[in-house]
Amino acid sequence: MPHSVVIFGASGDLTSRKLIPALYLLAQKGRLPKETRVIGMSRTPYSHEAWRQELAATTQKFAGKEFDAKSWDAFAANIYYQPGDIDDPHSFAALSRVLEVLEGSAGATRLYYLSTAPSLYLQAIANLGAAGLADESRGVRRVVIEKPFGTDLESARALNRATHQVFSEKQVYRIDHYLGKETVQNLLVLRFANSIFEPIWNRNYIDHVQITVAEEVDVGRRAGYYEHSGVLRDMFQNHLLQLLMITAMESPARYTADSIRDEKVKVLRAIQPLQPDDFARDTVRGQYEDYLEAEGVPADSQTATFAAIKLNVDNWRFSGVPFYLRSGKAMSCRTTQIVIQFRQPPVMMFSDGPRTLTDPNRLVVQIQPAEGIQLHFQTKVPDAGMKLRTTDLDFTFGRDFPGVMPDSYQRLLLDAMNGDASLFARSDEVEVAWSIIDPILAAWQTAAAPKLETYPRGDWGPEASNAWMQAQGREWFDVCPVLH
Ligand code: BG6
Repeated sequence: MPHSVVIFGASGDLTSRKLIPALYLLAQKGRLPKETRVIGMSRTPYSHEAWRQELAATTQKFAGKEFDAKSWDAFAANIYYQPGDIDDPHSFAALSRVLEVLEGSAGATRLYYLSTAPSLYLQAIANLGAAGLADESRGVRRVVIEKPFGTDLESARALNRATHQVFSEKQVYRIDHYLGKETVQNLLVLRFANSIFEPIWNRNYIDHVQITVAEEVDVGRRAGYYEHSGVLRDMFQNHLLQLLMITAMESPARYTADSIRDEKVKVLRAIQPLQPDDFARDTVRGQYEDYLEAEGVPADSQTATFAAIKLNVDNWRFSGVPFYLRSGKAMSCRTTQIVIQFRQPPVMMFSDGPRTLTDPNRLVVQIQPAEGIQLHFQTKVPDAGMKLRTTDLDFTFGRDFPGVMPDSYQRLLLDAMNGDASLFARSDEVEVAWSIIDPILAAWQTAAAPKLETYPRGDWGPEASNAWMQAQGREWFDVCPVLH
């Protein structure tokens, strides 16, 4: 079936940086459905040709070595542009006519991609509905909604309600690009295609879990957005909770979108809500030292650019195993990692004193960069008495699978075009995620909040975050990945 991919917010950064390069590289690899065309809509008045030329330059930049002029020209011949305003129903009527002409009597499966400012989502969806563009009598119609999906539980519910007035849930694809990362999908494979990890993946063997998404970059030119978002909305409600769900979920009965999402939602529902006394004890918040100097940030901003949060997944598998989540900007290095830290052996016989604690066993799932998995364990140092040292088994994707790791948008766009929602968030999932984050956001506005700590750039967050872990007898695994 021919496909029409309609991008709203066509002149925006996401379109040129991610969407078009992803579609182009899919086309180059021969993965796009036959007769796929791309139609961009935004207010900027381009001709088809002017838009193609602009995209040629940006795609060359973002696709890098993989770009070649011949395959680009073939792909670009199927790119069209239709100027229009999200607020204007006439623009949607005009778009509808253009689509019908392009698709002809054969019709097409359509994917509408909302890559606009999030404040325009409601309007875009309403106008798609009013113009009959969600109607499936002449082909399948799907809509992809970018993050952030709402700014709190109430706005997410309102957006879900408005979306469901126009599209049924099976037409809706809420994107979280972390789910498109190869290493995040590999976590499902690690857990459910191997038999050696599952038996120990529980409270009997695991001491705690650390999920870190550290970024070296600061807020850059996005301070206007970031100031109202902060690290909880920007990273925790979506990416960190997604990583937590995949780490903690039960095995789905089969690899289908609903089986997977059912299990993920159960994890979120098992998370103990934080109580008023917990916020100061179980959360840490920080702001990097010169955040206040970024353009558009008020001098008294309390926006957190770093957070660490302890969550308890209160089910039979994980009750009593804390999940420590942390993320921040302007940190030591860029690294996303999940550390499964196992319990110490019950008795340690290799010691001079009564009991010597060594480094615990750890499984480090390195999501990015230097994608891979390391298992840390104790080894006898040869020719040194009974001296022990921590060594590791080290798997890296780069060594075993040479070649480029595809950007997550390739996988996610293709899945959405093929109607596979496994790697997209369902309506209940985003709502439950907000119901975990909302109380923390609210408490951070009150006296129940922990102090907003300042941290130097290039560090692992505020010192208070280390002290917080130490007070619980634990330590962050602060290791920057080695890039080969
Ligand atoms: C985005 C956030 O969702 O994810 C950004 O809005 C953040 O602030 C980005 O930088 C991180 O994504 P990645 O894929 O670079 O880890």
